[in-house]
Amino acid sequence: MTLQTPNIRSVVVGVGSCLPERKVSNADLAAMVDTSDEWIVQRTGIRTRHIAGPGETTSTLATRAAERAIAAAGLQPSDIDLIVLATSTPDYTFPAAATQVQAALGITHGVAFDLQAVCSGFVFAVSTADKFLTSGSHKRALVIGAETFSRILDWEDRTTCVLFGDGAGAIVLEARGDDSGRGVLASRLRSDGRHRAKLYVDGGPSTTQTVGHLRMSGREVFKHAVGMVTDVMTDVFNDTGTSAADLDWFVPHQANERIIDASADKLGIPLSKIIKTVSMHGNTSAASIPLALATGVADGRIKPGQLVMIEAMGGGFTWGSALIRW
Ligand code: ACO
Repeated sequence: MTLQTPNIRSVVVGVGSCLPERKVSNADLAAMVDTSDEWIVQRTGIRTRHIAGPGETTSTLATRAAERAIAAAGLQPSDIDLIVLATSTPDYTFPAAATQVQAALGITHGVAFDLQAVCSGFVFAVSTADKFLTSGSHKRALVIGAETFSRILDWEDRTTCVLFGDGAGAIVLEARGDDSGRGVLASRLRSDGRHRAKLYVDGGPSTTQTVGHLRMSGREVFKHAVGMVTDVMTDVFNDTGTSAADLDWFVPHQANERIIDASADKLGIPLSKIIKTVSMHGNTSAASIPLALATGVADGRIKPGQLVMIEAMGGGFTWGSALIRW
């Protein structure tokens, strides 16, 4: 639960995104592995995804998304004093991708760090930045979800390579003391490391000294996903005295359309209130929610004053939700 200084809230003042240039269709994948457009669409809802090319990395995509979010807020990079970047695919083991973004933006003050909670990363980053801002220690945060999962996929494993894509999204959160009611109202974060073997990467600096490849028991992940995300959404509704009927927009992690629809159905959220980008982007892990938020803002659906629920579940397992008065 978020404990806030009563008169300070973290208000969303800008959103931006960046997708790699190269678009890959299901038909393109069917030429590489034994799969079909029909199988992928039926099981996941995914039709296309963007895949990073040479020269496109997590930090370059993140920097572009961040520049757009800062511009949308009418701010300058120098106005930012906190960068929290959620990723499981940083350019390097270290330094943090957040510090590369900080340097690319020409920011030399404040603090920048990465946060790793796989697909839940953006929700964890929003909640973390909110705690910095509401404590009064920082004023404006860039919260980024950025990934190049294509670089950790086993491109011969049809059970995983068809599911993921690359991209980045960012929001600017500003600490405000006004009484507009806007801002992050509550967030809930959870993890349970007993589920590691269901979704993991089979390499890393301290074990294999390699980057490794993503491995997933999709059916096992599916079994847990709906219950976990609806539990933390219910917690946030209870924390704020709101209910699903009060939501203007449900912006879930975009892993699989069936998980999204089942979660909404369980809480009685109508399909017309869901922002879905999974068909265009695939599962972009920590980037999927800010990419969906950017889509909803750009096409005029998400407007200031509206109530927006974000939620995600990912490797670990980790899972979480946040309720935002936009
Ligand atoms: N193309 C064609 N056939 C395939 C493919 C493919 N790409 N992949 C698997 N199959 C086959 C399997 O081999 C299996 O064949 P078999 O019955 O002959 O053994 C059959 O399809 C069914 O496989 P399942 O794995 O049981 O298929 P399922 O209906 O569970 O769908 C999926 C798989 C889409 C991965 C689903 O389980 C899912 O979405 N799980 C959740 C995954 C998820 O959301 N992960 C992200 C959350 S965390 C994060 O984002 C990192």
